[in-house]
Amino acid sequence: MRRVLVTGANKGIGFAIVERILEEAEDTFVFLGSRDRDRGEAAAGKLQSAAADRTDRVQVVELDVSSDESVDRAAEVVREACGGDRLYGIVNNAGIGLGAGDLNSVLDVNTRGMQRVCNAFIPLLADGGRIVNITSAAGPNFVATCSREQQAFLIRPDVTWNDIEAMMNECVALSGDADAFASRGLGDGSPYGLSKALANAYTLHLAREYPQFVINACTPGFIATDLTLPLAGGRGRSPEDMGMKPPREGAAVAIFLLFGAPEGTGHYYGSDAKRSPLDRYRSPGSPPYTGD
Ligand SMILES: NC(=O)c1ccc[n+]([C@@H]2O[C@H](COP(=O)([O-])OP(=O)(O)OC[C@H]3O[C@@H](n4cnc5c(N)ncnc54)[C@H](OP(=O)(O)O)[C@@H]3O)[C@@H](O)[C@H]2O)c1
Repeated sequence: MRRVLVTGANKGIGFAIVERILEEAEDTFVFLGSRDRDRGEAAAGKLQSAAADRTDRVQVVELDVSSDESVDRAAEVVREACGGDRLYGIVNNAGIGLGAGDLNSVLDVNTRGMQRVCNAFIPLLADGGRIVNITSAAGPNFVATCSREQQAFLIRPDVTWNDIEAMMNECVALSGDADAFASRGLGDGSPYGLSKALANAYTLHLAREYPQFVINACTPGFIATDLTLPLAGGRGRSPEDMGMKPPREGAAVAIFLLFGAPEGTGHYYGSDAKRSPLDRYRSPGSPPYTGD
């Protein structure tokens, strides 16, 4: 039985990833990460009531990616549940969006949260295991607005976690001052875009540090979830009108990166499961990126 952890899986794209794993990979057991146990249990109940064979293949794990203590406790629960076996995959899906807090809070979930989970769970991962980081096209879109120097930093293959932390600290100190971001070549300092650009940079670092795993990042596409629906509501338009797709479609690239044959490690993929560049947007269906 392969074992996969999905963070932020009580709703939205994370829930759809768990649902598709249970449907499409019958030999796989899922640890459904949820920062709120009740919301996690409700999600697991929905999945289990849909098909009898899923009852024994999903376990809720309370996991708040913004808390060291919660992440460490969750890793201990998973270690015990694995009983000496190892994890096959980690999907870092938990995320918060625009309007979800100040820059520091957004970084704490979208960027530091990913690193916290990797630090705690990588010791449980089997060689050859997969890590899938759900970032966003907001990352490359953010990089595209930066100066050449900052672009070079944000896509540097030899970036370290210390470099990423230093940039987070510098940006938090500038928080709320759009002119200060602009004068440092950091676009408009969009918290979400910055957090996702840095999560992509972290993926490069991680892949270099752990060549024994297959580690990639991806954007799920523009998906109708609680994160995006306010955008449609605010404009009085339907999600379909806005071009949003259902969560199950948003899960497709994560499923590919977990079980398919990606081109190696340390890359960023579009929602069409094709490679994309880290410094500009590539629309789904257009030719894949072929650079390093
Ligand atoms: N929807 C899109 O178009 C889109 C596009 C690009 C990228 N993404 C990315 O896709 C991922 C999933 O987003 P979504 O659209 O499915 O949004 P969503 O429906 O709002 O789901 C977000 C999930 O993350 C969880 N979460 C938030 N903070 C957390 C924390 N501190 N610890 C653990 N879990 C936490 C939420 O839990 P609660 O229910 O407890 O809040 C929820 O389960 C995010 O990383 C997002 O940035 C989404």
